[in-house]
Amino acid sequence: MAARKPLIAGNWKMYGRSAALGEIPALWAQVGGVAGAIDALICPPAPYIAAARQAAAATGVQIGAQDCSPAADDSARTGEVNAAMLADVGARYVIVGHSERRTLHAESNDLVRHKAEAALAAGLTPIVCVGETLAEREAGRVAEVVGAQVRESTPADARIVVAYEPVWAIGGASTPTIPEIEEVHHLIRETLAERLAGEANGVRILYGGSVGPKNAAEIFAAMGVDGALVGRASLKAADFAAIILSHPAAK
Ligand code: 13P
Repeated sequence: MAARKPLIAGNWKMYGRSAALGEIPALWAQVGGVAGAIDALICPPAPYIAAARQAAAATGVQIGAQDCSPAADDSARTGEVNAAMLADVGARYVIVGHSERRTLHAESNDLVRHKAEAALAAGLTPIVCVGETLAEREAGRVAEVVGAQVRESTPADARIVVAYEPVWAIGGASTPTIPEIEEVHHLIRETLAERLAGEANGVRILYGGSVGPKNAAEIFAAMGVDGALVGRASLKAADFAAIILSHPAAK
């Protein structure tokens, strides 16, 4: 199987001000020693991406965005930001299809795929989020829902990252069990392989939803988990560093 470099990404969501950018060099001071083995990524709110790139200049921390327009080219779309602009100010990755956007902005699988395609066209790596709600899990529909999300919201291209974020595990206290995480990660890779064949082995699949310093090591040890997408625990350098340092590749 192709070696996959772990990716541990922080999604700052709509939190923080300029002062929070000091967390980036503070993070590097703690994780710089393991940087060759793990990709560390911070995705701040859009207005701070350029300054975050500056704050990260002397570090190996990469910067990403939380969303992009599905339109690849400059056009009349008031309020939107395209992937080429994000790349221009130093982003390397962009999260697309986060459940908060799917829910609050009614984003469909088709729209998410168009965003991921626009990201690829601009040279960014899209992190495509998928995941079931609690009602869908309780109805035994995890494979159906996540399978359809992967088929319909990822482009047929191996230069992507997929993040499995069960909606019910985000922002709360509970996570799926390790076997449940492994089962869905396996399903995602099998679904990717339907279109990408052997190339699917190169796609990193992250787990997201209530990852913190206490449970990260156990989650990273799960089969098929190539890293994490972290919300709350990525806001403070000390917590995020503890998560990164708990990865087996950091030892
Ligand atoms: P929490 O880590 O705060 O649960 O958020 C997860 C998430 O949504 C990351 O994208």
